[in-house]
Amino acid sequence: MTTSADYTEKIPNNVDLHEDRRLQRALESWQPNFLNWWESMGPTLPTQDVYLRTAVNVGREGWAHFGHVAMRDYRWGIFLAERDPDRRIGFGQHQGEPAWQQIPGEYRSELRRLVVVQGDTEPASVEQQRNLGATAPSLYDLRNLFQVNVEEGRHLWAMVYLLHAYFGRDGREEAEELLHRNSGSADSPRILGAFNEETPDWLSFFMFTYFTDRDGKYQLGTLKESAFDPLSRTCEFMLKEEAHHMFVGTTGVDRVVERTAQLMVENDTDDAGPHGAVPLSVIQKYLNFHYSVSLDLFGGETSTNVANYYTAGLKGRWMEPRRRDDHKLTDDGMLVDALIDGEIGQTEVAALTGLNTDLRREYITDCQSGVNRWNKILADAGLPQRLKLPHIAFNRKVGAFAGIETTPDGEMLSPADWGQRSGQWLPTEVDKTHVRSLMQPVHERGKIAAWIAPPRHGINGQPFDYEYVHLA
Ligand SMILES: [Fe+2]
Ligand SMILES: [Fe+2]
Repeated sequence: MTTSADYTEKIPNNVDLHEDRRLQRALESWQPNFLNWWESMGPTLPTQDVYLRTAVNVGREGWAHFGHVAMRDYRWGIFLAERDPDRRIGFGQHQGEPAWQQIPGEYRSELRRLVVVQGDTEPASVEQQRNLGATAPSLYDLRNLFQVNVEEGRHLWAMVYLLHAYFGRDGREEAEELLHRNSGSADSPRILGAFNEETPDWLSFFMFTYFTDRDGKYQLGTLKESAFDPLSRTCEFMLKEEAHHMFVGTTGVDRVVERTAQLMVENDTDDAGPHGAVPLSVIQKYLNFHYSVSLDLFGGETSTNVANYYTAGLKGRWMEPRRRDDHKLTDDGMLVDALIDGEIGQTEVAALTGLNTDLRREYITDCQSGVNRWNKILADAGLPQRLKLPHIAFNRKVGAFAGIETTPDGEMLSPADWGQRSGQWLPTEVDKTHVRSLMQPVHERGKIAAWIAPPRHGINGQPFDYEYVHLA
C-alpha cells in the first residue's frame, strides 16, 4: 500500500489508479466536468493564486504541502488513509469478520445512497459560499475560505472515486448527478435542507463552518466505522481535512465575539451595532439559526433505516470502538426526545432505532464546547452577557418537534405567538441587512475589517500580514 500521492499523474492519488486503466479513464473523463462545475459554480472572486495546502501524504509524518497555487490548477486528488490488512468489522451482525474490500451485493443500494448523500453536501457548500470572496474581512480569511472550498471539492472527488470504483454504471450516473444538482436550485436542489440555505455573509460562513461542517464531521465519523473498508479509509482522511474547517468556524466566531465584546466595553453599551460591530444579540440569533438547522441534518429521533445500516455494518456510531457495550445493541433500549400528549418529553425505544438521537447528542455536547469558549471571551472582557445553545425543540423542521414552535428556552408557543416573536430569536431582515452592511471587503495585505478581531496566528507559521492571496 502506497501512502504518498503520485503527482505525476493527471489525477493525483494514493490508490494506484494507473493499475486500473478503465477506472482511470472513467475518472479522467469526469475530471473536465468537475472543472467546468468549479469554474461555473465555484468561487467568483478572480484571483491569481492562493496560499493553499495540498495533501501529499496521508501518513503521520506530515501530509500537507503549502504553496501559492492558481485555484483552477489545484491538484484535487484521491487519498485514502492507509489500509490495515487485519481490520475487522467492529459492530453489527458481521462483527469480527474481516472488513469488506468489495461491496456485498445485498448492501449495494444502501451503501450507494450513503455515499451519494455525503457526496452531495461537499459541492453544495462550495456553491453556498461562492460569493463570499467579494466581502472577505482580510486576505487571511479569504485564504481560509478558499482552502475550505478546494477541500470540499476534494471531498467530492473522494466520494466520486468510490462511486466509480465500486458501483458500476449506477455509480457513474450518480457522479454526474452530483454536478447537476445545485444548492438552492428550484429544479434540482441539493439533497439536504441546510445545504440549500444561502451563506450570504461571513458571520453565516463562520456559523456554517462551526455548526454545519461539524455535522459533516459526525457523519464522517460514523462512516469511518463502516465495514466497507474503502469508505472507512476515505472518511478517515477526510476527517483530517475537516479539522481545519472546524478551526475556521470556531476561531471565526471567537474573533467576531472578541471584537463585539471589545466595542461593548469601550463604549459602555449592550449594543455594539452603532459602533461597527455585530451586536451580541444578532450573534445569538445567527447561532440559533445555524444550530437548529444543523440539528435537523441528523434526521428523525428514530429510524429503522439507520438501525438496519448499523446491523448490516454500513454505518457505526461516533467513536464506536470506545463504546462499552456489545456493539450489536439488539437487546438495549434508550430514551429519545418525543412529543408526549402534546408536551415535550422523552420516550423509550430500542437502542438500534434511536441511533440518530445518539449521534445528535454527541454533536450537541461538542457544540456546547464552542459556546463555552465564546462565553469565556465575554467573561474575560468583564461582560455579564452569555451566549447559549437554544433548546433542542427550537425552530426544528425535522423530527419530533417539527410540528411545534418553542422559545429558545423550550417553552411552547402557539403559531400566532411564534409568528409575532420569532424575530427576537432568529435573524430578521433588519439584522441581515445590518450584518451585510458591515461586510465591506478588506483585500489589502495586513489589514482587517472593523467588525472582527485579527487572528492570533497566521497559517503555517506565516504572519497575519503575509500575502495569502494575490488577487487578479
Ligand atoms: Fe467536506
Ligand atoms: Fe468541511
